[in-house]
Amino acid sequence: GQLGTLAKAKGLAYFGSATEIGELTDTAYKAIISDNTEFGQITPGNSQKWDTTEPTQGSFSFTNGDVITALAAKNSQLLRCHTLVWHSQLPSWVSGGTWTNATLTAVMENHITKVMEHYKGQCMHWDVVNEGFNDDGTYRTSIFYTTIGEAYIPLAFKAAAAADPAAKLYYNDYNIESSGAKSTATQRLVKSLKAQGVKIDGVGVQAHLIVGLTPSLAAQTANLEAFTALGVEVAYTELDIRHRSVPASTKQLATQANDYANTFNACLAVDACVGLTIWDWTDKYSWIPTFFPGQGQACLYNEDFTKKPAYHAVVNVL
Ligand code: XIL
Repeated sequence: GQLGTLAKAKGLAYFGSATEIGELTDTAYKAIISDNTEFGQITPGNSQKWDTTEPTQGSFSFTNGDVITALAAKNSQLLRCHTLVWHSQLPSWVSGGTWTNATLTAVMENHITKVMEHYKGQCMHWDVVNEGFNDDGTYRTSIFYTTIGEAYIPLAFKAAAAADPAAKLYYNDYNIESSGAKSTATQRLVKSLKAQGVKIDGVGVQAHLIVGLTPSLAAQTANLEAFTALGVEVAYTELDIRHRSVPASTKQLATQANDYANTFNACLAVDACVGLTIWDWTDKYSWIPTFFPGQGQACLYNEDFTKKPAYHAVVNVL
């Protein structure tokens, strides 16, 4: 491995990957994700989400998440923790519950508090709120938004700040990789939280990108700077760059390599861009084919764990 070591030598705090417990039974996979010279940081892809951590009200389960946090500790890897308040992967008792503003606020605050207290001291970052906006910059409809209104976001960040003061608190979203309505809405949110004196430390730019449609280096850099100008750090939190049809041609693999290079270069160009996380490193376990049927080959490594042109492009950038 080398990407993690190279990233640190370039001044980034980390380079890392998502991982998940199901994959760790694959011993060849486990050996590579455990190499902290390749991945200095990991994120659990699912194990800290609400449906896993509080499947029934008030009954918490940390068994799965603890496997990932223990792996990070054993391998001296930093941990990004993901995620506390999100419209998706919610248990039905939350999404289909009958709530008032007061009862759902209490449920949300209790969830944040209990989960963060369990992982206290282990999480460098917490994605406190995930995917709160629509692409047009309006608030996304969710049980939290419809019941509590816009206030659910500051309330969530306040509860998070109280539960683990040492963790950096992130707002995380996709389609905020270049300027546009959603990026502007996210900047408005950061300003509003700061104006209210609510702690927010970072914006997570997911970066589930598409080969050939990835914003230019200049566009990505300007976008990151629009966030950091507000006094928050930024990170690429879920990077993958998918081909819209597979198998990809040699030419498309070269375009993908160039696209990956742009995103790494953008982070390197911005002082307060602290690191990049890929949303798993091998196509073997990528979420893309399931969620975007017919698309894929989005990761730096092929299914057989050989490295793509994009991997070598990242080595060159770093
Ligand atoms: C994905 C996981 O990778 C999948 O295994 C799961 O089935 C669905 O969620 N944005 C996010 C991540 O913030 O939590 C999502 O992860 C991908 C999109």
